[in-house]
Amino acid sequence: MKLFKTTFAEFLQFEALKNQTLKEDLSELILNIADSCKGIRKILSQGYLGGDLGAVVDINVQEEDQKKLDVISNSIILEYCAKGSSVKALASEEMEKPVVVAPRSGKYLMLFDPLDGSSNIDINGPVGTIISILPSSSCGDIEQDFLQPGSNQIAAIYVLYGPSTNLVLTLGNGTYEFTLSPVEDEFFLTGSKLEIPADTSEFDINSSNYRFWEKPVRRYIEECLEGKDGARGRDFNMRWVGAMVCDVHRVLSRGGTFMYPMDEKLRTKGGRLRLMYEANPMSFIIEQAGGLASTGYQRILEVQPTNLHQRIPVILGSKNEIELINSYHIDY
Ligand code: AHG
Ligand code: MN
Ligand code: MN
Repeated sequence: MKLFKTTFAEFLQFEALKNQTLKEDLSELILNIADSCKGIRKILSQGYLGGDLGAVVDINVQEEDQKKLDVISNSIILEYCAKGSSVKALASEEMEKPVVVAPRSGKYLMLFDPLDGSSNIDINGPVGTIISILPSSSCGDIEQDFLQPGSNQIAAIYVLYGPSTNLVLTLGNGTYEFTLSPVEDEFFLTGSKLEIPADTSEFDINSSNYRFWEKPVRRYIEECLEGKDGARGRDFNMRWVGAMVCDVHRVLSRGGTFMYPMDEKLRTKGGRLRLMYEANPMSFIIEQAGGLASTGYQRILEVQPTNLHQRIPVILGSKNEIELINSYHIDY
C-alpha cells in the first residue's frame, strides 16, 4: 500500500526553498484557501441532511440562479481569506464588486468561483472550487488592477469535491495533486508534476448545443463521432459531468479534451465560462501539466481582460487534439 507522507503545509515549505514567488504570506493565503475548502467539504458531506443546499436564493451578477450553497461557499472563503495584510482584494463569481481587504499593503489579488457545477448540488454530483491568484500592481483603481492576463497568475488552485476531495495546485512550476484524508483532516501529496498525455480518444462537450456551434467545432466532433471509419481512423468516447472542475480533473488524470466553445446563443455574452475565475486558473493548471488551452483562435492565458466577470470560449486538454482543433479554426 502506498503511504502518503507529504502534507500540503510541508509541500509549501519545501517549495518555498526553491520558488522565489512563494513568499511566506502567499503560503499562508494558500493554506487558508485549503482550510476554507475543508469547510465547504464538511457542509457538502451532510448532503440532504444539511437542508436544501440547492435551493435558489437570489440571482447573481451573471444573471444566473444563486443557490444556497453558492452563497455559503462564498462566505466561507471570505471568512478564511479576506483577512491579514497580504491580500489586497478578492473577487468572486457571486459578488458584483471586489471585497477590498488591504488596499495599501496587499500584494495579492484573489479571484474565485466558490462553487463550480451548482446544478449538481441537487443530484449529489461532483462540484468544485476554483481559485486564481494574481500579483497586485500599485495601480490605484482596484477593479482595474484585477484586469491582468492569465499569464500573470502566480498560483491557481481547484478543489474537486467528489467521492474523495482533491486539491490541485500550480505555482508555475508544474501541477501537483493532493488528496484530503478524512481521518486526519489533512491534504496529502498524491501526484507530482502531472503530465497530460498528448494524444487522446475522449472528448467532453455538452452536445445539446450542437446546432449552435461554429463550423470548426462541429467538424471536430463529427469526425470524432465517425470513429474508425472516418477521418480520425479511431473510435472516440464522450463524457460530460456538468462541473468544469470534475471534467478538467478527468483530462488531467487520463487525458482528453474539454470544451465549452463559442456558440450562436452565447455570442452576445462572449461564451459560457468566466475568464478570470474559471478559464484562466484552469488553463494555467492544464498548461503546467503539458496540455493546451485556447478559445479556438487564441491562447486563453494571453487574453487581455476588460471586465471582471467576462466570459470566454474554452477548449482545453491533450496537446495534439487542441492543436488540431485550433487548426480547424484557422482553416475556417
Ligand atoms: P457554475 O456552477 O460555477 O455556474 O459553473 C457551471 C459551469 C461549468 O462548471 C460547467 O462546465 C458548465 O457550467 C455546465 O454548463 P451546462 O449546464 O450548459 O452544461
Ligand atoms: Mn463555475
Ligand atoms: Mn460557481
